[in-house]
Amino acid sequence: MASADPGLSRLPVAFRVGDLAVRRRVLAAPMCGTSKPPYRRLACRYGADIAFTEMVKAHLLVAGCSRTWDLLAREDGERALGAQICGADEDVLARAAAALEASGFLLVDINMGCPVRKVVRSGAGAALLRDPRRVEAVVRACVRAVSVPVSVKLRSGWRHKGHAEADELARAAEQGGAALITIHGRPRDRRHAGAVDLDGIRRAKASVRVPVVGNGGIASPGDALRMLGATGCDAVMIGRGAHGRPWLFRDVARAIAGLPSLPPPGPAERAGVVAEHLEGLLEQLGPRGVLLFRKAAGWYFQGSAAADDFRARAHRIGSAAEMRGLVAEWRRHLLEEARLGV
Ligand SMILES: Cc1cc2nc3c(=O)[nH]c(=O)nc-3n(C[C@H](O)[C@H](O)[C@H](O)COP(=O)(O)O)c2cc1C
Repeated sequence: MASADPGLSRLPVAFRVGDLAVRRRVLAAPMCGTSKPPYRRLACRYGADIAFTEMVKAHLLVAGCSRTWDLLAREDGERALGAQICGADEDVLARAAAALEASGFLLVDINMGCPVRKVVRSGAGAALLRDPRRVEAVVRACVRAVSVPVSVKLRSGWRHKGHAEADELARAAEQGGAALITIHGRPRDRRHAGAVDLDGIRRAKASVRVPVVGNGGIASPGDALRMLGATGCDAVMIGRGAHGRPWLFRDVARAIAGLPSLPPPGPAERAGVVAEHLEGLLEQLGPRGVLLFRKAAGWYFQGSAAADDFRARAHRIGSAAEMRGLVAEWRRHLLEEARLGV
């Protein structure tokens, strides 16, 4: 999707992943429960080059489980999208990759970072990081099964010390044929907290030829510039930093491109984003979209004295009509605050 910011639409191509062009050097992270179509639409409209689906289990995909396929729902015309699969068995992963290609995805991403105990016990997710040979074998099997590019999302290692590090893992992924390597710069035992190992990402970037994406802890344009400067990576990936403020993709992309920063979005734009997210979830999921929106409401209803009250009310609401009413009230509230100069 072209960015809504004209300054960002005209940037030259930095690199390509198969048919997908990366111009702004910022990607939207795969996130369970969050990376749904409306979230991805907002991320890409504000500037993300590529978004990813949340991870789905390869064996359920291959078995034709409809709930798993539902997690991969796309909007019409949504192209700049990687579908992420998770599994331990390379044959199953390869069959899942082929099924994704057959259903029209232009990029298949393999999850090698999920830290959840149940996933890891099954040998999937971050468990693959324990053995670079497994990384290579899994990537190779998927690459052989499809003609679209295969990417991987690694962590900087299985544990903080004493295990294969990001550079060895990245080389294994490249050896297997990965077209793009994202590195979340925290080992599995740090889960989603703590310092990001920029030097590990730097060493990984220096040891492969394919594009490397740095991920972890990017919540501002400055964080993104630090990631790029310290690691030499080709692009950044943003996860939690963009929750409730998808315009972070624009702000980061502009900083990377050396364009002047823009003022933060005004109340009408912010309220419009909230309403669009809610409507998108309702369209995709029906009444279940209300439950999913509760989490997003917690991110959006911020930065106002009344925000706590709005968040608490969102968590009690069960119907689409009531949630729409609350979002409309939030809009009026933001506009009124702006009018009063609060
Ligand atoms: C709630 C949650 C869900 C996530 N789901 C996924 C997922 O499905 N696939 C994946 O590769 N990473 C997943 N991640 C990891 C993120 O993609 C990202 O690597 C991590 O949050 C670090 O980036 P950040 O500091 O910008 O958030 C998840 C993280 C969180 C907090």
